[in-house]
Amino acid sequence: MFRKFTLLFLLISFASCTSNSLTDRGLVTDKAMVVSAHPLASEVGAEILRQGGNAIDAAVAVQFALAVVYPDAGNIGGGGFLVLRQQDGSINALDYREKAPAAAHRDMYLNKTEKVVENLSFKGHLAAGVPGTVDGMVQANEMYGSMPWKDLVQPAIDLAANGFPLTKKEAAKLNEQREDFIKYSTVKPAFILRNKWQEGDSLRIPDLARVLQRVRDNGRAGFYAGETADLIADEMKRGGGIITKEDLAAYRSVWRAPLTAEANGYRIISMPPPSSGGIALIQLLTITEDYPLSDWGWNSARTAHFMIEAERRVYADRAKHLGDPDFYQVPVQGLLEQDYIKGRMADFTPKRATSSDAVSAGLPAPPESPNTTHYSIVDAQGNAVSVTTTLNSSFGSKVFVAGAGFLLNNEMDDFSVKPGYPNSYGLVGGEANAIAPGKRMLSSMTPTILEKNDSLFMVVGSMGGSTIITTVYQIILNVTVHGHTMQGAINAGRFHHQWKPNWVLSEWGALGAGTGIKLWLKGHKIVPRNGGIGRAAGILVLPNGKLEGGADPRGDDAAAGF
Ligand code: GLY
Repeated sequence: MFRKFTLLFLLISFASCTSNSLTDRGLVTDKAMVVSAHPLASEVGAEILRQGGNAIDAAVAVQFALAVVYPDAGNIGGGGFLVLRQQDGSINALDYREKAPAAAHRDMYLNKTEKVVENLSFKGHLAAGVPGTVDGMVQANEMYGSMPWKDLVQPAIDLAANGFPLTKKEAAKLNEQREDFIKYSTVKPAFILRNKWQEGDSLRIPDLARVLQRVRDNGRAGFYAGETADLIADEMKRGGGIITKEDLAAYRSVWRAPLTAEANGYRIISMPPPSSGGIALIQLLTITEDYPLSDWGWNSARTAHFMIEAERRVYADRAKHLGDPDFYQVPVQGLLEQDYIKGRMADFTPKRATSSDAVSAGLPAPPESPNTTHYSIVDAQGNAVSVTTTLNSSFGSKVFVAGAGFLLNNEMDDFSVKPGYPNSYGLVGGEANAIAPGKRMLSSMTPTILEKNDSLFMVVGSMGGSTIITTVYQIILNVTVHGHTMQGAINAGRFHHQWKPNWVLSEWGALGAGTGIKLWLKGHKIVPRNGGIGRAAGILVLPNGKLEGGADPRGDDAAAGF
């Protein structure tokens, strides 16, 4: 049955990415650029850059603007990672990932017979980790900001207070989620009382505007103390959640040394644990540099088979070895050793798919689309910021904090709730990513910056849960190996393998019928992914020094700059 379905998919699949779409140029600017998931957020960032703000100033403003105009992943109730490369080449990384509340414990999602209670880590109050976004933005501003804090928060306040027009996609998503918002929030959020939103309707969120005003006026205390903290704690009490005012007061984001490595003539700068993204991306690009993918051709059967096999091995490492480094000794150096990485392909054969171990539990159809959002920024001085931020799945836990107008994340699902039990992305894990109070859950977010010849070359990242890493991997190869433009690399169809479950997710048309059938004959199971894999935002420095933005056509994404 499965084989018949796969064959049908392959037969009706066709190459939807024309060679034109791979060479299309995105917006090209002379000096500065913002690419994000929403045109209004990109414009807010570009305006900060026009006023002379630097890339961190713009990043803070975009983060808050996305929290208003892109509530499915933009947030103040979630967290994220930021990777920075300054114009002088110095680098840093900010971890503002959510943390497990103090009352969390490793078996909190199991029933008395030690079975995982479905959806408990995914929807509702217990799914939320302690949010990190506001603290992250405060720290970023204190360390690197050049503009007054209040000027960076104000654009988001204006959007929330005055309203903004919904895009068609956002209107549809709000309509889809209506029942869950009502079910999981203890007080009906004012703005979802309408039956159906239409494209162009103005959405105002006055409660959120008031929270943002407190953040503008009091910095971190505007969120982690006082009225906002009271609202969050009250919401938790009403809904049976465990985040307390003490958890909020204790939250701190952390500056961490970015991971760096050289592969195929490029220097990769990416996020260390608790993200798996940097390690996995470096492993993938290091494995790949010894193979002539450019000769084999973009998304040919040979190339795709090789990439799938590399991904299978890298995700197996992810499942076993990666977790929060503040709680678990992640063998970072060992995982990044050239001999180790390259040795992982010793049993690779171009002829057939290697077997992943028998999959004990299949991938439940994802109850919600994976979400998260990425934005990339380069300022007029050449400073670059790569930020991926998330509530986890679309609209997070679906819990609105009553009186505060924002959603809480469902990031607790990114922990391994039981060894070997797949999370909503089908990812399995064990001890390294077990729940503990105050621990950060493992992430796949992969905000990345590339250098070539010691100069800035690319800023890139994506949304997409477990598919983030392979999305960023493919985009980098599309530009550096296959010669696509930034826009073309992001337009290009994508596929994904994550060791378990043992199948290749593919966008319709990404592989083309010929490639798909050859992969199938080698033993790969190919499963179509409706709705796309990842949504990326990239900026490429062109040989003439101008910037090309790549905005993902899978969403409403937009580039803006000058
Ligand atoms: N919540 C998705 C991730 O962090 O990987």
